[in-house]
Amino acid sequence: MTAIAERTDCSTDVAALVPVVGGATTVPLVDGTQRVYANLDYAASAPALEAVAARVTEVLPLYASVHRGAGYLSQVSTALYESSRQSIARFVGAREDDVAIITRNTTDSLNLLAGVIPAGGRVLVLDVEHHANLLPWVHSRPGQGHSATIVPIARTVAQTLRALADELARQPYALVTVTGASNVTGEALPLDDVVAIAHAAGARVAVDGAQLVPHRGFSLTESGADYVAFSGHKTYAPFGAGALVGRRDWLDAGTPYLAGGGAVRDVRTDRTVWQPAPARHEAGSPNVIGAIALAEACEQLAALPSGALHEHEQVLRDRLVDGLSAIDGVEVARIWSDSTDPVGVVTFTVAGHDAGLVAAYLAAEHGIGVRDGRFCAHPLLAHLGASGGAIRASVGVGTTSEFVDRLVEALASYLADGARSSYEVVDGCWAVVADTRPLIAVHGLDHLAATAAAACGPALDD
Ligand SMILES: Cc1ncc(COP(=O)(O)O)c(C=O)c1O
Repeated sequence: MTAIAERTDCSTDVAALVPVVGGATTVPLVDGTQRVYANLDYAASAPALEAVAARVTEVLPLYASVHRGAGYLSQVSTALYESSRQSIARFVGAREDDVAIITRNTTDSLNLLAGVIPAGGRVLVLDVEHHANLLPWVHSRPGQGHSATIVPIARTVAQTLRALADELARQPYALVTVTGASNVTGEALPLDDVVAIAHAAGARVAVDGAQLVPHRGFSLTESGADYVAFSGHKTYAPFGAGALVGRRDWLDAGTPYLAGGGAVRDVRTDRTVWQPAPARHEAGSPNVIGAIALAEACEQLAALPSGALHEHEQVLRDRLVDGLSAIDGVEVARIWSDSTDPVGVVTFTVAGHDAGLVAAYLAAEHGIGVRDGRFCAHPLLAHLGASGGAIRASVGVGTTSEFVDRLVEALASYLADGARSSYEVVDGCWAVVADTRPLIAVHGLDHLAATAAAACGPALDD
């Protein structure tokens, strides 16, 4: 049996090819023992690849101001930044004339795109979306000329595609913006169909690639989509950079996202001449290290054997869904009865049990990291009948089948025998009563404990 067969039953050992930093980090349990952290929260934020951390360490001594510095290291840093832009664009299959803008994350990218929709343009969006791909369209800022229509999702993919086509036939749209993979269930509409329907109606397509790009990869050229937005911190490069990649014309003509140095060609007191994209939208000092980190993650993921990441996540997802579905009272959420090939993101509810309590138990008694709440997708959670919150487990390159089995067994044991500790709600969050675990007990960070405790304010409603 190969190493990966023991880990995930896959033919390629993805975890060995792209190891993550902290894959063996242990965390304290409430019973006083330590356990390797079962990170099942990749959809929220993924750990850095070891190669990404190494690259950052390698380039830090070369770091200097970019674009405007005359010094040697400024030129090196500028070259590194610009070649990172190319790697990022290549990773998402950018066309020759597409432009890649380095942003902070997917939210930033989609807000940027919302600012360059030609005046009067209508945007079509489904109520399945993460708030990052909903709010920028429905709440246009002063000076933005677009308006949005939200189409409710139907029971099936086929019906939802029909509803999209019907709305596109009703009035002209500039843009249809869709998730490449739901951050709640991992499902998506078939992108080829969305692109065909939208383009036939004269609308462009933007893809929220926050979950699709790191879990599956994506190509603008192959899909025919016009824009893609994604986040470095979900793509194994948590150094504060993300990207928006796509058609140049709107980005060259649109209102600059930020006004400031670097975005302009010439400034007089009575007029400003702006640069074309990407500089037009990257005012201020850019996140050079973040871009280099993201580019390295892109290179590493692109170098994996074709289909390996897909297979790795599929095997883990199937194992998770099979295990969860076998437990009485656990229901795995599904948006469409006829959707196929979801990414490695699984949301479930436990009948009669608060999602936050179950998540706290999994962490405190089993060292498992999952997410609970409404996942910044309130309309979708309402549609799924889970407005009270649900639990999400998501996998990635460092996930093992032991993590998945641990979750399933812990949940079964919770439902059979209950939790061993007592839990209470503190500041809106479930917590162990009289928790004795030091907040920061890993790797000599005890000196941060007081600061960390003070920083834990009331839970945000996500
Ligand atoms: C599908 C989807 N879109 C957008 C976002 C927003 O990403 P970010 O927080 O990196 O801006 C997320 C984050 O969870 C997401 O899952």
